[in-house]
Amino acid sequence: MITGLNHVSIVVPSLAAATRRLEAVYGLKVGEAKVNEQQGVRLAYAELGNARIELMEPTRPDSPVSKFLERNPAGGIHHFCLNVDSVDATSREMAQKGVRILGDGSPQRNVHGERIAFVHPKDFLGALVEFEETGRS
Ligand code: CO
Repeated sequence: MITGLNHVSIVVPSLAAATRRLEAVYGLKVGEAKVNEQQGVRLAYAELGNARIELMEPTRPDSPVSKFLERNPAGGIHHFCLNVDSVDATSREMAQKGVRILGDGSPQRNVHGERIAFVHPKDFLGALVEFEETGRS
């Protein structure tokens, strides 16, 4: 079951420059960057109270995020993430309705250790959607 918005994710060519801009222009505080080696991305978050902005910068040329930057050199919205009560139960329920869940079916975790899954964009109105199982709502 979907319970809320967790974050909106933006791919940026430079995490440092994006952090400076969000802080200087918008007064948003961006937390410390963390690397997800598996996905080849460096991530940082601006807390909004009820949701977050996720900033992603590629750490290597073969990262999926690098391919996104080739198509969108200035960066742009990559996906948004919805809170779910259970990644497994929600993915199973959606799959029964014909929704494709990306990956090989093995459980995925984000840099905070929380369970996540991604829905094929063609099965969510053209947008890449992440599910996250979290205590936050
Ligand atoms: Co995300």
